[in-house]
Amino acid sequence: MSIQNQQTKLTIGLFGFGVVGASLYEVLAQTPTLNAVIKKVCIRNPEKSRNAPLSLFTTSKDEVLNDGQVDVIVELTNDPVAAYTIVTTALRSSKAVVSANKKMIAEHLEELIALQKEYGVPLLYEAACCASIPVIRNLEEYYDNDLLHSISGIVNGSTNYILTKIAEDRKSFAQALAEAQAAGFAETDPALDVEGIDAVNKLSILLAHAYGTIAHPATLLHAGIANLHEADTTFAKEKGYQVKLVAQARKLTDGSIAAFVLPQFVEAGSRLREVKNEYNGVEIESSLADKQFFYGKGAGGFPTASAVLSDLSALRYNYSYEYKKLNYGEPALLSPDFYLRVCISFRNLLQVPHEQFARVEEWVSNDRRCHITGIIHCSKLSDSNWWKQPDISVILYPDGIFETFVQKEQSVEALVEV
Ligand code: HSE
Repeated sequence: MSIQNQQTKLTIGLFGFGVVGASLYEVLAQTPTLNAVIKKVCIRNPEKSRNAPLSLFTTSKDEVLNDGQVDVIVELTNDPVAAYTIVTTALRSSKAVVSANKKMIAEHLEELIALQKEYGVPLLYEAACCASIPVIRNLEEYYDNDLLHSISGIVNGSTNYILTKIAEDRKSFAQALAEAQAAGFAETDPALDVEGIDAVNKLSILLAHAYGTIAHPATLLHAGIANLHEADTTFAKEKGYQVKLVAQARKLTDGSIAAFVLPQFVEAGSRLREVKNEYNGVEIESSLADKQFFYGKGAGGFPTASAVLSDLSALRYNYSYEYKKLNYGEPALLSPDFYLRVCISFRNLLQVPHEQFARVEEWVSNDRRCHITGIIHCSKLSDSNWWKQPDISVILYPDGIFETFVQKEQSVEALVEV
C-alpha cells in the first residue's frame, strides 16, 4: 500500500501495548498534527488495566490484520514468534509494517527482505537498533560499503545501565538489573540482554545495512555480561579501564568483515566511556569522514516510540529500505580469520585451555580470581564452548583486533592492527 503524503490520515493497527506501545499511543493522542490514529490495539491479556479506552483493544489479531481501513501495522510485542506471524501476514496482505522486534527481524531478515520485494510493501524497523538513534537509516543512505571501515558501539541499554551502576555506584548486578527492569529498559526475558543476545541481534541487523551482509545472529561470536565477575571490575579499574558491552563490525584488508559482541575494556577519554546508563553510542569510521559518533537513549518507552514515529513519518514519503549494499553492491563476507587481544577471567585453571592462546602476555591471580591476558585466534572462541561456562568471562582489550599474528624467533612477535 502506498501512503502518499502528509495530508493523508494514517490508520494504524497496533500490536502490543507495553512500555513502547503505550508511549506511542500517548504521543499520537497528544499530537493531532501527526495525523495518525491508532484504530485498534491487539493485546494478549484483556484483564490488565491500561491507560486507554477499552473499546480500543481486541485480542483478535485477525480483526486488526484484516481491517481494510488499516494502512499500517505497528508491531511492538515482546514475543518474537507472534511478531513473525503478524509481520509476515501483514506484508503478504500488502500492508506497510513498522516493527521494533530486533530478535524476530535479525533471525528472519532474508525472508523479510524477500517478502517486501514480492509484495511491494515496506517494513521499517529503526526502533530495533539503538532506539532513538537513527543508525539504520544513516547506514542505509549515507555510507558506502567500500568506504565504511568499521562500526562499533554500545547497542544495549540495559547492560550499559547495569555496568554503569556496578562501576560508578558500586551496585550489585542483581540490584542494577532490577532497576533496568523496573525502568522498562530490559527485555521481558532479561537473559536476552545480559547474555548479549539482544546486542548480537542488533549487530546482525546493522551488518545488513552497513555491508549487505546477512548473518543469522546465532552464527556471530557473542558474549554478554552475565559471566562477568566482581573481580573483573577491580581488574579493569586497576588498569584504568571500565567494562562495556561492545558490538562491532570491522573491515579487514581483503574486504571481509570481522564481527562480534564482547565485553570490552574501555579507556578513560574514549567516547564509549562517556556512554552511561541506558544510553547507546555508535562510532562509525569511514575513509573520507573519519570517525563519527552517534549518541542517544537506547532503551525506554519514549526514545523507542520516537524511532517508530520517525518510521511512520517516512512511510508517508513512501520510504522503504533499498538494502543498497546487498542489492547494488558486492555484499561483504564475514571472516573468522583474525586475532583478538583478550583477558580471560576464571577461577579454575583446568577450565581454560591456555595452550590455545597464540601468545600469553600476562597472568595475574589472587585468592578470588585469575586473569590471563593474551592473543587468541577468533576461531578458538567461535568454534568452542569452554569460555561460555558460568565461571569464565572473556573481555576484549581496546584496539584488540589484529589481522595477522606472526610468532618470530626469540619470541619477538609482530601484530598487525586492523
Ligand atoms: N532491552 C533493550 C535494551 C531494549 O536494553 O537495549 C531496547 O532495544
